[in-house]
Amino acid sequence: MLDLFADEAPWEEPLAEGAIILRRFAREDAAALMAGVHEVSQQAPFRHMVTPGGHTMSVAMTNCGALGWSTNQNGYLYSPQDSLTGQRWPQIPSLFKDLCARASLAAGYADFEPDACLINRYAAGTKLSLHQDKDEPNLRQPIVSVSLGLPAVFQFGGLQRSDSLQRVMLEHGDVVVWGGASRLFYHGILPLKPGFHPLTDQFRYNLTFRRAS
Ligand code: SIN
Ligand code: FE2
Repeated sequence: MLDLFADEAPWEEPLAEGAIILRRFAREDAAALMAGVHEVSQQAPFRHMVTPGGHTMSVAMTNCGALGWSTNQNGYLYSPQDSLTGQRWPQIPSLFKDLCARASLAAGYADFEPDACLINRYAAGTKLSLHQDKDEPNLRQPIVSVSLGLPAVFQFGGLQRSDSLQRVMLEHGDVVVWGGASRLFYHGILPLKPGFHPLTDQFRYNLTFRRAS
């Protein structure tokens, strides 16, 4: 496939204290990462979870790792088992771990060892409302977020929901790492614009690596 940007070197964009965008960092691995996503989703299918408030999420989700994040009428939880299949979540593919280690190191977080990888799938119109990632016990560990496929607008705010928001476009291969002072900053994804990407068709995928134990 002809990719006009194939030889464009990755570059870094600071986002906030403790937060950085590693532009195009995952681009070379994107096809292999997507193969991993499809493999995981054969064992643990994408599904639309229901929030404690009773809303069905527009984002389709699955997980890999020792722990997987989910939500249902009772709340949010990390669990070793997929409630849909009754099985353990699939293991995190080694390429995922390798990329995550390189990205966290590049962002200044050494020794980040994720045990949970949430995989989000966005179709046209799908959004993720402003939220904090706060279900993890160890907040000294960062979040590593990998974007694949169609572009989306990422909102990144502050510790209060009402804090002003930065809006940045996340494109194929971009990796965002946040931790330290910004670990609990509010963030979200605006409704996805329809489009087509050669690797992901009409979707955007996001891998979010976390330490959940
Ligand atoms: C998330 O906050 O869990 C995902 C953000 C994204 O899709 O980029
Ligand atoms: Fe999040």
